[in-house]
Amino acid sequence: MKIAVSGKGGAGKSSVSAQLVRCFTLHQMPVFAVDADPDANLGLVLGLDPEKLDSLRPLIELQDVIEAKNAGGGTLVDLNPNVDDVLENYTLQEGLLRFLKMGAIKQGGSACYCKENSFLNAILTTMLLDRPEAVVLDMSAGIEHLTRGTARGVEMMLVVVEPTRAGVSTAKAVDRLCNDLEIRKVFFVGNKIRSEEDRSYLESQLPAERFAGMIPFSETVLDRARRGEPLVSKLDDLLPGLEKIYEMACGR
Ligand SMILES: Nc1ncnc2c1ncn2[C@@H]1O[C@H](COP(=O)(O)OP(=O)(O)O)[C@@H](O)[C@H]1O
Ligand SMILES: [Mg+2]
Repeated sequence: MKIAVSGKGGAGKSSVSAQLVRCFTLHQMPVFAVDADPDANLGLVLGLDPEKLDSLRPLIELQDVIEAKNAGGGTLVDLNPNVDDVLENYTLQEGLLRFLKMGAIKQGGSACYCKENSFLNAILTTMLLDRPEAVVLDMSAGIEHLTRGTARGVEMMLVVVEPTRAGVSTAKAVDRLCNDLEIRKVFFVGNKIRSEEDRSYLESQLPAERFAGMIPFSETVLDRARRGEPLVSKLDDLLPGLEKIYEMACGR
């Protein structure tokens, strides 16, 4: 199952992503946890070792590897290099989990970053379309890493939304981007819900039938975030609604 998670900064993308990743590992399924948000914090929310996370290079910065993958091409950039070795050597592994940081897509100016961007595209194509492992992609609201091509591999997009006007506005913008990329299954996930008003506010602003779940505001989540403790270490730690979203993602 290949899932992408987007939404406004602070909405809870990494928290939702981390819980889904743990759903997979706790159900004994291998999974790639991909931090594709330039404001990267998925590794910490997953409870991975901060020192190891610091020394993990974002893929976009692997100049040597990127050059080697394009070697011999001259002006002819290999559009589909084999990158299985990258998924082996530049990921943090912990049991069934493989964690990687994409780094920000390089944009504009006078420089051409075709090589860098096509390298990231090859990584995503491999993970989303070729490899059997589950994927959870933690993305910013711009979902810049996805193209028409790689978006074909996204089986479900979750847009995390807090019950605020700004949150809803960003969620609608992400939904439009997903529509442009022809991602068919796009669901909203209400997060930090404190009251019936919060829930009905979201359902009045966005199509109610497109909510995959509503996750309550949780003091435990905040407390763990302050202590730097992993959000989930056993299935019982999952927030209400998460297991249902996981089952939906797995088509059950
Ligand atoms: N359901 C929740 N209840 C309470 N706090 C939450 C909840 N979900 C996320 N948070 C907190 O909100 C903050 C932002 O969450 P995070 O997942 O890092 O957002 P994002 O990745 O979208 O920027 C973190 O401090 C996190 O602990
Ligand atoms: Mg985040």
